[in-house]
Amino acid sequence: MRKDELQRTDAEGRLFRIAYASRTRDDLRLPDLQAIAEQAAARNRQSRITGVLLFGQGQVLQWLEGPAAAVCAVMGAIQRDPRHQGVSVLSAGWIDARRFPDWSMQFLDAGERAGSVVPLAVSPDKGSAARVFDGAAVRHWADRDPDGICTAQGLAAHLARSPEESLPPIPERFLGCPRARAGLVDEVCRTLGQGWMDSRYSGFEVTLATVRLNRLMLLAGRPADPREARASAVVLAPDRCSELTGALMKTDLLRSAGYSVRLIAWARVTSLRSSLRGTGNCPIIIYGGRVGIDSRDAKRAAAMADWLRADYPGRTILIGGRSAGPLSEWPDRLAFHSQGGHPVAGKPIDWPALSALAADPVAALAR
Ligand SMILES: Cc1cc2nc3c(=O)[nH]c(=O)nc-3n(C[C@H](O)[C@H](O)[C@H](O)COP(=O)(O)O)c2cc1C
Repeated sequence: MRKDELQRTDAEGRLFRIAYASRTRDDLRLPDLQAIAEQAAARNRQSRITGVLLFGQGQVLQWLEGPAAAVCAVMGAIQRDPRHQGVSVLSAGWIDARRFPDWSMQFLDAGERAGSVVPLAVSPDKGSAARVFDGAAVRHWADRDPDGICTAQGLAAHLARSPEESLPPIPERFLGCPRARAGLVDEVCRTLGQGWMDSRYSGFEVTLATVRLNRLMLLAGRPADPREARASAVVLAPDRCSELTGALMKTDLLRSAGYSVRLIAWARVTSLRSSLRGTGNCPIIIYGGRVGIDSRDAKRAAAMADWLRADYPGRTILIGGRSAGPLSEWPDRLAFHSQGGHPVAGKPIDWPALSALAADPVAALAR
């Protein structure tokens, strides 16, 4: 498919995505899933659908993106397909750009084998699925861009090691879309944090990289508080440098997702209390940090949360950062984590009806 065709969207100029998990029929093996993906890719090319199909340990995770009517129509067929069961939709909604523009339906073996993207959890929940799709996206962009500048891993390496004058700008496709930006920040921080744990990056390189990432984001335009905010939040930032940078970036992301955000540095209890004055009843997010996190930080964040819950009954107190994923998905993702459960099997969705609605809203509503 030609690139300009891939970026073309449906009549409303919008793209839609669905991510779901399911369990395959007991007799299906890896080659069967590969064959399904190959046939799917051929059909998807006709309907301008792209995405990825991951299989491991009897579990399927699939990401479908494209014109809404086509995506909903194919989802209707997939949900009825007897080759798998327990289809549980993890997320569905509009997207600003394709995540996998070069993959009509890429099959990835996500079993616990060397070379797998990310092993699938026994029962993938929304959070673990997001990590698997993030991993697949990194691989997709790495395939597309062998020099690695467009990938989070490539960018992390540049930020940690390149001389100042050859730092790449933040790739264009991350700038307009808060979710893509959040994903990039998250992935770069994850890469750096993991690299630090594996001794591939020193603490100095990690700090340098996060400070540089913050600066690049700033140069790309730090969002102001929106004039008509969707909601407000307070972000409590820890006082260690790299963590503070992470908190600043998350604050930016929340702002660009339409939130009015007050950022308060962790401080002595008394000054914190006065800083929180005038913030109404809005939720407080304690930024636990991902890079440089250690059990002391996690314990501090938990203790702070306990203290705030006792002192501010009725307020929502969340711990962001490490386990929270991109905060642009907040509060969805955080709420899910706080339940600590598996995906709740949702009510079956009438995909064909949605497809009709997306294709011709006026006619569908008149019915
Ligand atoms: C795990 C799984 C993933 C699938 N993914 C796709 C897909 O991306 N695109 C597609 O056209 N069909 C896909 N299919 C096949 C559809 O379920 C269905 O067989 C196909 O679209 C033909 O539908 P029809 O018989 O209603 O024409 C998938 C099936 C399974 C079991």
